[in-house]
Amino acid sequence: MAENFIPFSIPQIGQEEEKAVLNVLKSGWLTTGKIALEFEKEFAKKLNVPYALAVNSATSGLILALEACKIGPGDKVLTTPYTFISTATACLHLGADVEFADIEKDSYNICPEKIEEKLKNDSSIKAIIPVHIAGNICNMEKICAIAKKYEVYVIEDSAHAFPAKSKDGWAGTFGDVGVFSFYATKTITTAEGGMVVTSNDELAKRMTTMRLHGIDRPVWDRYTSKKASWEYDVIDAGFKFNMPDILAAIGIEQLKKADIFLEQRKKIVEKYNKEFSKYDYFILPPDSDGNAWHLYLLGLNLSKISITRNEFAQFLQDKGIGISMHFIPHYKFSIFKHRTDFNEINFPNTEEHFQRTISLPLWPGMTDEMIKIVTDNVIELGIKYGKGN
Ligand SMILES: Cc1ncc(COP(=O)(O)O)c(C=O)c1O
Repeated sequence: MAENFIPFSIPQIGQEEEKAVLNVLKSGWLTTGKIALEFEKEFAKKLNVPYALAVNSATSGLILALEACKIGPGDKVLTTPYTFISTATACLHLGADVEFADIEKDSYNICPEKIEEKLKNDSSIKAIIPVHIAGNICNMEKICAIAKKYEVYVIEDSAHAFPAKSKDGWAGTFGDVGVFSFYATKTITTAEGGMVVTSNDELAKRMTTMRLHGIDRPVWDRYTSKKASWEYDVIDAGFKFNMPDILAAIGIEQLKKADIFLEQRKKIVEKYNKEFSKYDYFILPPDSDGNAWHLYLLGLNLSKISITRNEFAQFLQDKGIGISMHFIPHYKFSIFKHRTDFNEINFPNTEEHFQRTISLPLWPGMTDEMIKIVTDNVIELGIKYGKGN
């Protein structure tokens, strides 16, 4: 890393996490056990849900949720083209097809009206995956009402949305299943990992079994209960999606800090917003009630700037600012080249948003000096390449 480089994201790992991991390393039990169970219990308590299942990634969590909802060959799943690829590939792994509905112009989240349009015309759609992009909660009241009308499952891709809580509740708890990510850049991290939450007994039971080889007994129970550990049944071809205790130990400590991290993120967002709102070169990110602020998506007002988004991004990168782009719309990927209807014309809001947006560094440990360097450089570029300047 170059000197003075401001990274896009740095995980906030302290002595608490270090100690917790060392304790697990010394404990004689490394894989899924009582620490993972404790992490699940604490996470469920925080979101006030009956079931939280720790998994090795949100991608695994999405596959697990879809499988429990009996999504398979011949079914379709509706989601947004503006998300990370695993939202869509989770469906493909189960033999289902993917359909997309465009995003709303303002929230960048999947548009409820477009969802209804698709469901009305296609009875093979069996589930919807709304994604709370950047931590900004989707219009879940409308989405859940539409899902109920057409009798389809709702799996919330909440990879960006912990801890996002609106007046109506926690992101991840509105639909049938919510899936969170603890990847290294996320709002809390276990390096790799995720959590699946649900209030549905049947779905919870199926996901618990399928998370670990389809074995009908949890591994911890096999080694602690009086019943012999080698006695178990396998009821289906399950996955290997469990979270080991080493990672769960990090998660427990991160969970305790989640609210503090969120406050710190909000302060950075306020500072960015205050500076960028002074100029019409920029479009500020949407801010809904309860945003988790995983990402700061800065829109460039391309009618006021004479360079492209990519040039703008490169200039910032050259200045030592670690920026990113979220996300390349799915219809641009070769994996969907057989779908001629997946193109920018059919998803105009996604395309417009993608063409003009960059993600700026946003992580709790950013100093005021770093924030100022970012804002100064962004504004300097805006002024330098502003049309008419
Ligand atoms: C919207 C979204 N969904 C799912 C995932 C997958 O998360 P994981 O890396 O934990 O599998 C990501 C990861 O970045 C994501 O951004």
